[in-house]
Amino acid sequence: MNRVEVRRVARALGRVAAPGTVVGLEGELGAGKTFFVEALARGLGVPRSVAVTSPTFTIVHVVPRGRLVLYHVDLYRLDREADLGELGLEEMLYGEGVTAIEWWSRLGAARPDDALVVRIEVRGARERELEVEASGKIATEVWQRWRKATAAMGLVLKGPA
Ligand SMILES: Nc1ncnc2c1ncn2[C@@H]1O[C@H](COP(=O)(O)OP(=O)(O)OP(=O)(O)O)[C@@H](O)[C@H]1O
Ligand SMILES: [Mg+2]
Repeated sequence: MNRVEVRRVARALGRVAAPGTVVGLEGELGAGKTFFVEALARGLGVPRSVAVTSPTFTIVHVVPRGRLVLYHVDLYRLDREADLGELGLEEMLYGEGVTAIEWWSRLGAARPDDALVVRIEVRGARERELEVEASGKIATEVWQRWRKATAAMGLVLKGPA
């Protein structure tokens, strides 16, 4: 998928996300995780005047003004397991908002069972391949809606049937 297509599918996810949706993002540096989260935020209705930028240095950004609150988490700089506890992630992960987490696997054992995991593979300077996994009730329902929405746009997401 090119940039425009990735933006469209991520926006579509924002439109179909439910309270409590957790989106884990995997992909190398510069794959497009933050890019994806920005589009997801727009799909939630977050206005352009609210910047959606990488929370690398603060780890968590709370992004207001969408249909649901968005917690944007970037675990890149999280190097100590102990830091996790200080983030108050539980409140986000099991709350009524949408939580998008860059460098998902760094969450380790704290990864919730109910999650939609999006792997962004770099296939070229402008080409990406997205692969989705869904587990748990919320994520599975959101995935079904997301898959339909993207198929209706003529875009095919790789993921569970
Ligand atoms: N098909 C594409 N999909 C997404 N982003 C793309 C695509 N093609 C080019 N890009 C560009 O790749 C860059 C991705 O940067 P981004 O900050 O989103 O990556 P990241 O995965 O969050 O990196 P980091 O690991 O540093 O957080 C953006 O500048 C974006 O415009
Ligand atoms: Mg990023």
